[in-house]
Amino acid sequence: MTLNSVDIHQDRILILDFGSQYTQLIARRVRELGVYCEIRSSDLDEISFDAFAPNGVILSGGPESVTKADTPRAPDFIFAKGKPVLGICYGMQTMAEQLGGRVESVVKHEFGYADITFEETPTIFASFVNDEGTPLSSLDVWMSHGDQVVELPRGFVAVASTSTCPIAAMARPDQHFYGVQFHPEVHHTPRGAEILEAFLKEVCGCAGLWTPDHIVEDIVTRVREQVGEGRVILGLSGGVDSSVVAALLARAIGDQLTCVFVDNGLLRFEEANQVMNMMTHASNNALDIRVIQVDASDTFLTRLEGVTDPEAKRKVIGNTFVEVFDAEADKIEGARFLAQGTIYPDLIESGGLAGGKAHVIKSHHNVGGLPEDMKLELVEPLRELFKDEVRKIGLALGLPSEMVFRHPFPGPGLGVRILGEVKREYADILRRADAIYIEELRAANLYDVVSQAFTVFLPVKSVGVVGDARRYEYVVALRAVETIDFMTARAARLPYEFLETVSSRIINEIREISRVTLDISSKPPATIEWE
Ligand code: XMP
Repeated sequence: MTLNSVDIHQDRILILDFGSQYTQLIARRVRELGVYCEIRSSDLDEISFDAFAPNGVILSGGPESVTKADTPRAPDFIFAKGKPVLGICYGMQTMAEQLGGRVESVVKHEFGYADITFEETPTIFASFVNDEGTPLSSLDVWMSHGDQVVELPRGFVAVASTSTCPIAAMARPDQHFYGVQFHPEVHHTPRGAEILEAFLKEVCGCAGLWTPDHIVEDIVTRVREQVGEGRVILGLSGGVDSSVVAALLARAIGDQLTCVFVDNGLLRFEEANQVMNMMTHASNNALDIRVIQVDASDTFLTRLEGVTDPEAKRKVIGNTFVEVFDAEADKIEGARFLAQGTIYPDLIESGGLAGGKAHVIKSHHNVGGLPEDMKLELVEPLRELFKDEVRKIGLALGLPSEMVFRHPFPGPGLGVRILGEVKREYADILRRADAIYIEELRAANLYDVVSQAFTVFLPVKSVGVVGDARRYEYVVALRAVETIDFMTARAARLPYEFLETVSSRIINEIREISRVTLDISSKPPATIEWE
């Protein structure tokens, strides 16, 4: 940290995770409000708490019931540190119970919009005034609960109620303890961000230093400290994350950076050319960097022969990537570091967070597939960031918006979009089908409406008829999802006319495909990629 730069981690909030699907959303809202935060497991130990030294704590919601004995509780020391605590939903209930109040299951579950009425207006609701400046008496909020606090702990006051929930918010301002039964983090609570902001800034005293410009400055400083005079290799995929890493590293260490773009045979149509053009063209001032292109497609495809298990495919691809980088590193004098675009959700989803409880859903190759004997030291400048923060940083660095808002593309590429064994023939067919789909999405101005869209190759044959001839060819599936954080997603509702155009173009233009299907699954229970 240089003397004149701000310490963007100076203020920090700890989010204890009780397993809510919204925990990451809470974290993103806190970050959007300019405050650094980390998510930790609800059974965090005191040493880790003291080491993190948060300004305040948020207890997340969760799927369990406080009325059952073996469900998670906040560690008791959390309430004895003199730090502000905000409990949300389950977090409020466990706080109430642990501090001597009582929680009961109610017959009528409350799910959806509710109108809360304020009884009192202590700190975190104080800003709610109407146009005349008088305090609001009610507020639209979003509820999702089956239990509720029925008896307040000593010293607390009920702040708000709904018609079915007499204690919809509670507070003990002298100790800076607050609880809300509703979810301030979701968009359905229109003024939820103001509640979180009041907690962060007025109660916890956070200054709001976590902004894109400050983050860039901080990362640049830390990368310089880590790397010194060493040379860094970056695996560039042309996706948002690695492009932002390239721009950050270019700013931090200039020509100590060499980007390696590996053609693994699993790229999208024309992707190698596009990426090389984008990275090396002078019109793109933000990226004046050296890029070496390596065609390793034969190696990747040969190693993938006979491998059908998705996780095994990821491992083969991840390991081969690292080998290729190692080989390139050997050619670059002084190369000691490998930069990667690992982001915070990759760590959470791979179960890699200290004390984290997340289950391994897919080992993203950034995190899970690296061999232990890797020669290069990792540089991961985005590992604290959510995707939306990476995009903001990309824009702050002057990257073109087509690059910044490109749909994410998984590291293993088409390898996880060809079900089962990967073959060159399948990849070639898939590339052409996918190119048609993406071209049509752009033509219909739908590309930016959906969060991620792609085609999946199904290695099964189906009968079709073209003219008078019978065809017996492969099947593809179209996938398009809407999501904010890629942790949950729903299938995008693309217009039928559009889907019809895509389907008929694919079947007419690609002889090897006889049928186009549509994937309408949500995540969960499905995932976004098919493997
Ligand atoms: P899933 O399929 O897990 O995908 O719902 C969530 C997001 O992550 C991307 N994804 C990956 N990215 N390596 C990556 O770098 C991987 O192995 C991987 N698997 C999925 C996926 O495209 C989506 O954006």
